[in-house]
Amino acid sequence: MPEIAFVNGVFMPLAEAVVSVEDRGFQFADGVYEVLASYGGRPFAQESHLHRLEHSLKALHIDLDLGAYGLEGIVREGMARSGFAETMVYIQITRGTAPRHHEFPAAGTQPTVVMTVKQLRRPAAERYEKGVKVVSTPDLRWKRCDIKSTSLLANILAKQQAAEAGAFEALLVDGQGRVTEGSSTSVFCVRQGALWTSPAGPHILPSITRGIVLELARELKLPVREEFCTLEQYQQADEVFLAGTTTEAMPVVRIDEHQVADGKPGPLTRQLRQAFLEYVARGDW
Ligand code: PDD
Repeated sequence: MPEIAFVNGVFMPLAEAVVSVEDRGFQFADGVYEVLASYGGRPFAQESHLHRLEHSLKALHIDLDLGAYGLEGIVREGMARSGFAETMVYIQITRGTAPRHHEFPAAGTQPTVVMTVKQLRRPAAERYEKGVKVVSTPDLRWKRCDIKSTSLLANILAKQQAAEAGAFEALLVDGQGRVTEGSSTSVFCVRQGALWTSPAGPHILPSITRGIVLELARELKLPVREEFCTLEQYQQADEVFLAGTTTEAMPVVRIDEHQVADGKPGPLTRQLRQAFLEYVARGDW
């Protein structure tokens, strides 16, 4: 089964895909991206992902009409061409190729549109059963984390710190001691009988999975608080879990040297993971 790429209107094997060294994505990380997964061969929550991509493009004044470009059909075609049962689709749109000057290039410069389609391998079942360890690290990102920018250095350094500590993820802690999110996931905790997660806004990515988990929690009549919690509150919470496109809802049982509650995935985390899997199985997304 082939790994597929799409570059500026043309499908090709991934190994053949190239862009110019003068692409502003390469020179400046002047671009945005999305990661979509499929279930049963269908792109999951595609409309929400494309809507967020539009938000990111607009925020950076990259002028591309995704509807007119036909991106939805391109994603579907990429999935079909790859033939994998479950795929991970990566879309990146940059401001295009132009001589390297910081200011925007000349009007009419075409954005670069790249998509790759690969086989999706979700985390092993054991991780969901036993839960994972995370570390904490300062949130060094810029002040517009709601834009899904390819400028991910702070996220990368945080994730590497986690990897070196044998941890699954790094929780990012801002200057006020508040946990914003994970380096590539949203984060939730259960405390005082409610489900807590950071509020939408410039401090976090408006995660699609986060939105679905909140919707499911409300359906289950769980009290929800979209408010920041400190690292200490996460460490002392009854339950903690991560959420993201490829991660789904992943229990956290250790933060740095602190065990979360009894060190086992908690009941609300299990309930929400189950609800998420049922939502996926319903297929009306
Ligand atoms: N990451 N927070 C950050 C900083 C992220 O990068 C991501 C996704 C999420 C979860 O968002 P969603 O539920 O929409 O996947 C939260 C993607 C998967 C990545 O960078 O690979």
